[in-house]
Amino acid sequence: MEEEFNLSNQKIFDVLVMGGLGHIGLPLGLVFAQKGLKVCLLDIDENKTKLVLNGIMPFIEYGAEEVLKEVLGKGNLKVSKDISDISRAKHIIVTLGTDVDEYFNPQTKKLIDTMVGIKKYLDSSQILIMRSTVYPTLCRQLSKKLEGINIAYCPERIVQGYAMREIPLLPQVVSGFNERAIKDATELFSKISPKIIETSVEEAELVKLFTNSLRYLQFATTNQFYTMATKLGCDYNKIRKTMSDGYERVYSLPSPGLSGGPCLIKDTLQLKAFDNGHYLLGYSAMMINESMPNFIVDELSKKYDLSKKKVGILGMAFKADIDDIRDSLSYKLIKLLSFHSAKVSCSDEFVRDASFVSKEELIRDSDIIIVGTPHSAYKTISIPENIHLVDLWGIIQNGKEYKRWERV
Ligand SMILES: NC(=O)c1ccc[n+]([C@@H]2O[C@H](COP(=O)([O-])OP(=O)(O)OC[C@H]3O[C@@H](n4cnc5c(N)ncnc54)[C@H](O)[C@@H]3O)[C@@H](O)[C@H]2O)c1
Repeated sequence: MEEEFNLSNQKIFDVLVMGGLGHIGLPLGLVFAQKGLKVCLLDIDENKTKLVLNGIMPFIEYGAEEVLKEVLGKGNLKVSKDISDISRAKHIIVTLGTDVDEYFNPQTKKLIDTMVGIKKYLDSSQILIMRSTVYPTLCRQLSKKLEGINIAYCPERIVQGYAMREIPLLPQVVSGFNERAIKDATELFSKISPKIIETSVEEAELVKLFTNSLRYLQFATTNQFYTMATKLGCDYNKIRKTMSDGYERVYSLPSPGLSGGPCLIKDTLQLKAFDNGHYLLGYSAMMINESMPNFIVDELSKKYDLSKKKVGILGMAFKADIDDIRDSLSYKLIKLLSFHSAKVSCSDEFVRDASFVSKEELIRDSDIIIVGTPHSAYKTISIPENIHLVDLWGIIQNGKEYKRWERV
């Protein structure tokens, strides 16, 4: 494939994605390559590089592997760890995130330093497009450090696992610090997005953060309702169903569940840091969502001596039908159960771990089962009545027709 690309200093790539083998960078690069653009995926991860060059997706992204094989075959895709490839691209799309440290402070300096580090490969003919979710004002700070470079901010809003389906469907928010950046980013994203919405850069940063944080608040609301209903001995999923029966105003209430993952909490914490700690709603949401495993284990420990129980956790990924365990609250369950000396076993449909058992074995050997992730495969399994089942999502129907009110 190398020979398809003339490795001179000319702009031979239409798009270079920095962080191109990540959950956001890889599907985006594939969608552009499928449109016939020459795409370079720049990444430091050697394992993922090997897999992708062999046409294998390093993580679950539905519909991506076929496209990967197709664009590799057509010679539209290059995978690189050579940072100087940045100078050979017309558009540089950055999908490196802003982490939050153990004291909840966004690590903006790390991303800014990385970007300053690539300045020598950038020139005024290129467009630098930030796509990560960023701390508010980060893009403007960056524009001051990278004077003379055309910078746009076009946040990614797909749901992980379904990017290939959603990229062509979702409107793309486009913003930038000059006309040239906005015009070029608009032209580029018009090739893959059905609609472009132009805003200011700061508005675009908040659009992305508010979207994720709203979702996190919704989960916290329903989770808190769940804990209140459970304390009263009521079936919260039945309550939800009754609330929404013929009553549309409640339709946006999602099911309770474990809200983990790398995005929602991080982005809520970025807003909290930005607002000098005044984002009390966000802080409360974090306390509620993060304490759901504690609530589950506390309730169980009131009923049982957990040191004498075998507890199975069904589902370890941070959300349904994917293989990503980043910040999954199932792992917090293991930790809390171990404080009670319970014997814990784990199972997952997609996450590969030699210590995990099959769902059949887990069901056979557990006194208590906690659903950690509502994988679709659990819709049709049966859990014997002698097993204590904790299923916040209400996904286990024990052979009945599946009628759960799905999270939207
Ligand atoms: N995952 C999601 O569902 C989602 C959705 C919307 C937005 N986002 C945002 O997108 C950003 C990226 O998230 P992600 O889930 O793709 O992360 P990820 O960890 O899957 O991907 C990041 C990639 O960057 C690579 N990388 C790290 N440092 C690098 C460097 N210096 N040069 C080149 N490559 C480097 C890593 O090897 C990795 O492949 C975050 O800001 C996140 O908040 C994520």
